[in-house]
Amino acid sequence: MSKKSFGIAGGSIVVVIITAVYMITASGSKSKSSSSPAGEDRVLKNAYNDYFSIGAAINGHTIEGPDSILLMKHFNSVTPENALKPGPVHPEEGTYSWGRADRIVNFALRHQMRIHGHVLVWHEQAADWMFTTGGRPATKEELLGRMKEHIFTVVQRYKGKIGAWDVVNEAVADNGPDIFRHNIWYDICGEDYVKQAFIYAHEADPQAKLYYNDYNIIRPDKRERAYELLKSLLYEGVQVDGVGIQGHWSIYEPSEKELRDAITRFSSLGLDVQITELDMSVYKWEKDRRDKRVGESDDLTPGREAQQVAQYDMIFKTLRDYKDKIDAVTLWGVTDRSSWLNYSPVRGRKNYPLLFDREGKPKKAFYKVVDF
Ligand code: G3I
Repeated sequence: MSKKSFGIAGGSIVVVIITAVYMITASGSKSKSSSSPAGEDRVLKNAYNDYFSIGAAINGHTIEGPDSILLMKHFNSVTPENALKPGPVHPEEGTYSWGRADRIVNFALRHQMRIHGHVLVWHEQAADWMFTTGGRPATKEELLGRMKEHIFTVVQRYKGKIGAWDVVNEAVADNGPDIFRHNIWYDICGEDYVKQAFIYAHEADPQAKLYYNDYNIIRPDKRERAYELLKSLLYEGVQVDGVGIQGHWSIYEPSEKELRDAITRFSSLGLDVQITELDMSVYKWEKDRRDKRVGESDDLTPGREAQQVAQYDMIFKTLRDYKDKIDAVTLWGVTDRSSWLNYSPVRGRKNYPLLFDREGKPKKAFYKVVDF
């Protein structure tokens, strides 16, 4: 056997063993849980059957690796974390790259899971080619034409399979007096791009539920800017069905009052509410990317863990109170190991934001969330 083929075979054996150990642990039937033996057979989606769907953001590695066992056991909805964003799916004019998205969609359909489409228009992970024409900035007409073609192609490919879409992501300003974030879409198209995106999405699939999705919209000032945007779209007769409160939270926020106020405020517009990207950092919110500082602790200390358990408990207790307004709660990942918060905003700093730990074992927060 050559060294190369031995390497592959050896790697495969390791993967099989790790997966087998993980499956036993994840299934809960043969492992001992250090947190709560009584909770071993708890299933997240079953606990919330009478409340809302329980989703997870997933990538190719989630459905191809050991996390797929947890995914199938505990979740009944998925959101492709990256595969359907314009950059990955539409890298060049006239070129679509469907492989990863198709695999996720087919997996979800095979396992009777809902699929939440993410995302049609965003300034990050965008199809950058859309914004220029022959070396000059695209005109508004060119950009809206490309947006329309993109939305029609993507939405119609998955018509009848993807029932809800994040149509526009993060169009609202974080601070200041303006409602709109000054991003590249806004710079070229002005405010119209948000409205047009919803119009095109509705034309492409009149049955699909259309969401506006944003972060920090439980903070009162940003919440009010998002509220004004949504109110004016609805006033103009634009089809908007719901608002995605992303839920990139931490052990420090939101407060129960902020959460209740946000759900009440958005649903007063007649919109469905989803928590679309729930995770709970053990650090304070930061937006700008940076490297981990020398000496900066990134351990899950008992104090941080206890705060996280209490915060998850409060969040889910509160969400259960609004089950008639909330359609789905989606965690932004399955295990702590695969969370984006391990590389963003602080490169090299471990985080522990989800309900399953790095080995796929249910955390103390998991038991708080399912035992009620
Ligand atoms: O796929 C490339 C790979 O080819 C390349 O080698 C590698 C090198 O850096 O990068 C890979 O792309 C990364 C991509 O995730 C897929 O893993 C990007 O660098 C990385 O920036 C990207 O991060 C994603 C981030 O959005 C982009 O802003 C996160 O995974 C994803 O969780 C995050 O999700 C967003 C939501 O869509 C919207 N709300 C906020 C949320 C968190 O930022």
